[in-house]
Amino acid sequence: FGLLREVDDHLKAYGQLKYRNGGFLSGNSLSKSGSSGSIATAEGLYEQRFPLAKNSVAMERILRRRSLQLREKQQDWQESPEGQKMLEFRRSLPAHKEREALLNAIAQNQVVVVSGETGCGKTTQLPQYILESEIEAARGAACSIICTQPRRISAIAVSERVAAERGEKIGESVGYKVRLEGIKGRDTRLLFCTTGILLRRLLLDRNLEGVTHVIVDEIHERGMNEDFLLIVLKDLLPRRPELRLILMSATLNAELFSSYFAGAPMLHIPGFTYPVRAYFLEQILEKTGYRLTSYNQIDDYGQEKSWKMQKQAQALRKRKSQIASAVEDALEAADFRDYSLRTQESLSCWNPDSIGFNLIEHVLCHIAKNERPGAVLVFMTGWDDINSLKDQLQTHPLLGDPSRVLLLACHGSMASSEQRLIFDKPEGGVRKIVLATNMAETSITINDVVFVVDCGKAKETSYDALNNTPCLLPTWISKASGRQRRGRAGRVQPGECYHLYPRCVYDAFADYQLPELLRTPLQSLCLQIKSLQLGSISEFLSRALQPPEPLSVKNAVDYLKIIGALDENENLTVLGRNLSMLPVEPKLGKMLILGAIFNCLDPIMTVVAGLSVRDPFLMPFDKKDLAESAKAQFSSHDYSDHLALVRAYDGWKDAERQQSGYEYCWKNFLSAQTLKAIDSLRKQFFYLIKDTGLVGCNTENCNKWSHDEHLVRAVICAGLFPGICSVMNKEKSITLKTMEDGQVLLYSNSVNAGVPKIPYPWLVFNEKVKVNSVFLRDSTGISDSVLLMFGGSISSGGLDGHLKMFGGYLDFFMKPALAYMYLSLKREIDELVQKK
Ligand code: CDP
Ligand code: MG
Repeated sequence: FGLLREVDDHLKAYGQLKYRNGGFLSGNSLSKSGSSGSIATAEGLYEQRFPLAKNSVAMERILRRRSLQLREKQQDWQESPEGQKMLEFRRSLPAHKEREALLNAIAQNQVVVVSGETGCGKTTQLPQYILESEIEAARGAACSIICTQPRRISAIAVSERVAAERGEKIGESVGYKVRLEGIKGRDTRLLFCTTGILLRRLLLDRNLEGVTHVIVDEIHERGMNEDFLLIVLKDLLPRRPELRLILMSATLNAELFSSYFAGAPMLHIPGFTYPVRAYFLEQILEKTGYRLTSYNQIDDYGQEKSWKMQKQAQALRKRKSQIASAVEDALEAADFRDYSLRTQESLSCWNPDSIGFNLIEHVLCHIAKNERPGAVLVFMTGWDDINSLKDQLQTHPLLGDPSRVLLLACHGSMASSEQRLIFDKPEGGVRKIVLATNMAETSITINDVVFVVDCGKAKETSYDALNNTPCLLPTWISKASGRQRRGRAGRVQPGECYHLYPRCVYDAFADYQLPELLRTPLQSLCLQIKSLQLGSISEFLSRALQPPEPLSVKNAVDYLKIIGALDENENLTVLGRNLSMLPVEPKLGKMLILGAIFNCLDPIMTVVAGLSVRDPFLMPFDKKDLAESAKAQFSSHDYSDHLALVRAYDGWKDAERQQSGYEYCWKNFLSAQTLKAIDSLRKQFFYLIKDTGLVGCNTENCNKWSHDEHLVRAVICAGLFPGICSVMNKEKSITLKTMEDGQVLLYSNSVNAGVPKIPYPWLVFNEKVKVNSVFLRDSTGISDSVLLMFGGSISSGGLDGHLKMFGGYLDFFMKPALAYMYLSLKREIDELVQKK
């Protein structure tokens, strides 16, 4: 209790108790904390937060005692029969042979770059080697290893695996922390987290006090967060000479990273995979006996006696001939057999979209019917496609007995309970088919995969800096990705990979993918640079591994000025500081903060959660009309997709209370899973907003105006500005225009699409995507006055600054009569916001 009091005093002295508790470290009301009493938690906090205090004799003693306990526990496990078995498995991994070399290199160098084939044991073994060697040296309790993963699912899966390998439950020496979840206990010494979480921690703790090793995994993916983290860590290393940094990558471009860190030593783990046979489209068609004629023949199903089966067989034959002609058309158009086709041309000629899922379906049926047992991993472009194909396959007669097929979807935002099924080997000859995005390329390993089906594309965000428009399009993968996907089939035995495109298309792929930093908008990143006090944004980014275009940087900085997160001199405003603490895009963060200020937090949290998870409205391909009219019911003539979302969510909550959530979703074409994700995000938002001090404990007050649709609309506008387009109602049609793109269109699933008239002069939107034309995803109708008062930088540089920034938009929409109203009302709002 003495210690507890001491800890308490320290925390009070630093005045950070509340602040920190809500942040990275445990004790967080959001994370399921490991088994630990209050004293133990306090001790843990003490160690992590006040490393200097470790020098005190008492602390030394505690640390030593705990290190010895850890050592004993580790030895006990390794000597137990299960422990022995696990150890044997671990020793069979290629990484094991390099264990000593790796540990030596890490001991002798501040930065080490490690590469090795996927599955050789980098992620699960290397952090463990470090932990074990620290524990063996009786320094176990003093070490703190952080290993970052680009995706939440891999952070969770890996930590579970490592805990199991150590004979522990998660939350003992191994833990994880991702955006919505985390398990971490007082003895946690190895923490797997997403890169974003480590960046967030750096916000609060610039020197990573107490951390002994940072491992950045999957750097070859060149995600924006990873590239950013590398710049920050490069700056940090001289300040923390004892800190060790290990970079891990699957494919071999280690030199790039090594030279970035002044020639850091590179270690390669020679891998072992079984050979994988690759089939490109030409060979696939040959192998699978694909012939138009064979499809027209009556097969087994046709001979069934029952009327139902006859019917089914008929439908099947029809479907088959549809597939056949679609494939044939596409092949003809591409003329893939003509090898004289120059490779660059082949990329644009070969358009698999016209085949849709048909080819995938065809190959899956072939495998199910003719090939040996083994799981199938299908690489697809995105979540929507995965879901629709899953629906389509669920009842597909050609896949055989449904009870012998286990269809699973695997994507970044799935719940962790679902993930287990993906890794487990099904019993009794059931064939597992996993439909995955490109995340299954490197970061997770599904052991029993024997067949890989690769569609050749991945959804990639790209960014058109000239028009300041982000694009999210399925694009061709790189050769490196293609190799990687193929490799996934050779984990446990020789495998087969079906590349659903002609060989000449593969030859035209780029060698590596463009780093994300060079192809996405940089707003969140710029905000983080400012809040980490890293100096001038452009100077900082120029030190990246591959610096982004100056124009992209300028666009991002301008945007942050327009929304009021940065002032004229690029300094962080109060709003900006608050935004950098929220784990959402700046505009959505702003919406949350204003929702709190204007006492309508409830609907705004739903909108923001919906926009940052994904749309819960499902649009099944074949029931589009029904789905669209179901969505329209939620709009009740208020011309807002965002308000429709709020109504749908509220309705679902009511239904849930009456135990009828699923029927509600079914009836209204809503995804229960997405609604649940929205629900849990909302909870997290509330805690975070409470942390900013903008709302008190009394939830009633912060929702006083939630029912006021005009106010909610205004706050949505404040967040989404300058995402705005003008509405011109013509006799027969509606013309929408934005300043940058000219005429734009609405996605057909928007409630504003296809209405005869929109009685608002403006629409604000969250996202525009360039496909052929520019499309707006979801939108809300806004009046002139709301736009004038809420569009722009409320409470930043006062009225003058605001008007100046607004200047660019003045010509575009200012109606003189409103200017006066704007000036006076704006002053009032500014005062209100400042006071709050
Ligand atoms: O990181 P890297 O790709 O080098 O491999 P890893 O993720 O450390 O996986 C090493 C081995 O551990 C894999 O080959 C799998 O056999 C096994 N593993 C597993 O059985 N279950 C997991 N959840 C993760 C890995
Ligand atoms: Mg790995």
